[in-house]
Amino acid sequence: MSRTPLISGNWKMNLNHFEAIQTVQKLHYLIPKGAMDDVEVSIHPPFTDIRSVQTLIESEELDFALGAQHCHFEDSGAFTGEVSPAFLAKLNTKYVICGHSERREVFGESDEMVNAKVLAILKHGMTPIMCCGETLAEREADETESKVVGQIVAGLAGVSNEQIASLVIAYEPIWAIGTGKTATSEDAQTVCAAIRSKVAEIAGDDAANTVRIQYGGSVKGGNSPELMSQPDIDGALVGGASLDPDEFARIIQFNG
Ligand code: PGA
Repeated sequence: MSRTPLISGNWKMNLNHFEAIQTVQKLHYLIPKGAMDDVEVSIHPPFTDIRSVQTLIESEELDFALGAQHCHFEDSGAFTGEVSPAFLAKLNTKYVICGHSERREVFGESDEMVNAKVLAILKHGMTPIMCCGETLAEREADETESKVVGQIVAGLAGVSNEQIASLVIAYEPIWAIGTGKTATSEDAQTVCAAIRSKVAEIAGDDAANTVRIQYGGSVKGGNSPELMSQPDIDGALVGGASLDPDEFARIIQFNG
């Protein structure tokens, strides 16, 4: 079963809309023609940049998918400061990250909220990149799989098997995010395989064979080939290194 790898750049709260345009242009120039034939790349800028990046991608016909970092689960209403998934869909956003550990830990997003967002993103024809991952304390207590699998089960409640097949799940050990520490490729593979077998249990073998599972947490040009060579790792969710077009271009070209 071949799954097209998805490399996603999560810019977090970095780069204003002018910097965003320069960064995307530079990335485009750094990637030789044909180097993205077998890989998909999504860019997740801050909300204030999305319209500018959309215009650039569409007018120059760049081979990048537009992504968002977060959204609310309602279409509209009295939710000061929040962004509707309907508005993101109108901007031709393809992928929306939800349940990132920073949203869970800093902004108190619960498994139930993440589930509501997964359903809302799908309802608007976009693809969720649903994140899961354990803290260092959980890893040391040997609770990695139970934590991650619990997040998957909760996040996928009420999602149809066909929808699950279309999803992206990002396994991001929290202790590896922005720390320079990466899970070994064997450890990352073990957890991603456990996620896939849970998906098989929930939604059947077809969905499990099709769902894409990314690894995230200090992915760089140097470690991406080994991570990406693991059978159950189908891409990377990249934070810090995606801000540097040279480094991100290296990650995208993990194959060559
Ligand atoms: P990092 O972030 O690559 O800077 O570790 C990954 C993420 O949070 O998505």
